Amino acid sequence: MGGKVGVALALMLLTLFSSSSRVDSRIRHYKFTVVRKNTTRLCASKPIITVNGKFPGPTLYAREDDTVIIRVVNHVTDNVTIHWHGVRQLRTGWADGPAYITQCPIQTGQSYIYKFTLTGQRGTLLWHAHINWQRATVHGAIVILPRLGVPYPFPEPHKEEIIILGEWWKADVEAVINQAMQAGLPPNVSDAHTINGLPGPSPNCSYAGYSLHVESGKTYLLRIINAAVNEELFFKIAGHHLTVVEVDAAYTKPFKTDTVFIGPGQTTTALLAADRPAGNYIIAISPFMDTIVATDNQIATATLRYDGAAPSAAAAVAADVPARNATAVTAAFMDGLRSLSPAAAPSRPATSTTRSSSPSASASTRAVLQRERGVHGGLSAAPPAPYDYTGAAPANMRTTTGTRVYRVEYNATVQIVLQGTAMIAPESHPTHLHGFNFYAVGRGVGNYDPINDPKRFNLDDPVERNTISVPTGGWTAIRFRADNPGMWFLHCHLEVHTTWGLKMAFLVENGKGPNQSILPPPKDLPKC
Ligand code: C2O
Repeated sequence: MGGKVGVALALMLLTLFSSSSRVDSRIRHYKFTVVRKNTTRLCASKPIITVNGKFPGPTLYAREDDTVIIRVVNHVTDNVTIHWHGVRQLRTGWADGPAYITQCPIQTGQSYIYKFTLTGQRGTLLWHAHINWQRATVHGAIVILPRLGVPYPFPEPHKEEIIILGEWWKADVEAVINQAMQAGLPPNVSDAHTINGLPGPSPNCSYAGYSLHVESGKTYLLRIINAAVNEELFFKIAGHHLTVVEVDAAYTKPFKTDTVFIGPGQTTTALLAADRPAGNYIIAISPFMDTIVATDNQIATATLRYDGAAPSAAAAVAADVPARNATAVTAAFMDGLRSLSPAAAPSRPATSTTRSSSPSASASTRAVLQRERGVHGGLSAAPPAPYDYTGAAPANMRTTTGTRVYRVEYNATVQIVLQGTAMIAPESHPTHLHGFNFYAVGRGVGNYDPINDPKRFNLDDPVERNTISVPTGGWTAIRFRADNPGMWFLHCHLEVHTTWGLKMAFLVENGKGPNQSILPPPKDLPKC
């Protein structure tokens, strides 16, 4: 009897608690209309797919704990899906967005309502199309502010700016990848990089680029997003340092650097102090590639302009970008990123070593999440035929295609070692896991050594993120708790590698508790 009252009281208290902490949370409505728009860059025009006619697309603003409802209407002839990159989607996997993984695409004339709550995250993320190469032009920022009244864990900036990095092809992007697949060759690299949609002055076409206006003595919060398709980038502001305070919507210890290294799908939020003599300073982005793979080597530029400086970029202080193959710069940047709060990193993982290359999950008539019962056999937890991964590529690569997923029990602690290989060419792979943030506990060159490498893992303050670079010819170890039931895509965020099959999915099972199951699919979930 007394026990029951106790339970009832506890439940009431819980209810009170949860409702009082949610007092300030709101529902935010957005409408994304997908339309083609004729757009001019590099002195040439082409129709591109956009959201609401904008490139980059509109920013999604919300606070932690808000529920966001986005109605996406497809007015183009292509199929569309939108992914909210880095949003945890706790129990709402149907709103995650990767085509044929959690949903069938939204067809011409159709719409789909994405609805999710932003739980336990604050900072910068991005949204982007998640079908074919559509995200080249269909992307935008997500800004999650802290709860009302909760300050940032760093000095309040004077202003905030969103800086979205991208790539521009003069040709239609789907034609670029389709022709490459038919020819069995790598696709053409882009014709320019962009900063907030603009390449800045380029060799044969001189348009002004983006400019960022600042007042002397003030501090600015830059929300830098890499929405490029196939390139990891360096970001630099002439004469200035940046203090990184957050990556992938997880706070970091303040880290001062003169160069940001950022892969597609990653975000870096940094403080910029306007503390140099008033003038114009070049902001530059350039590609990183430390192997024999082609990149677009055009440097996109923008201008940091102090109040009172002449609006002529000609007199701007130039930025010296790192060499294309500056591996050491990338390593120093990655080593500098540490979680702000002591790690809740799972210290004793239950599983497993998975190589980061595997089967294609696309080309199905239903999304994998919809037919999970029909998915037979799992991916094995380790490479079926171990070999010297970073040594000479084997003559027979033994690749296969298929739809198999890796099953994970609810709430399991998972370790994945993403092992780079020398197949085709060793290359850096910015790898993205949907549905979770993970802790990056270790990284190295060559093949992972399961005996000695874990001894050097950082279990104190590993960076928490959703996309991590696996170094060229090396490995990265990540850990997470599988507290989110659903079908979660893991893939290289260089879109060309996703196209080629560097992708797999985790099926995280429902738990037994009351809030441990994926919610039922929404009524308007698109059909194939
Ligand atoms: Cu930003 Cu699966 O993608």
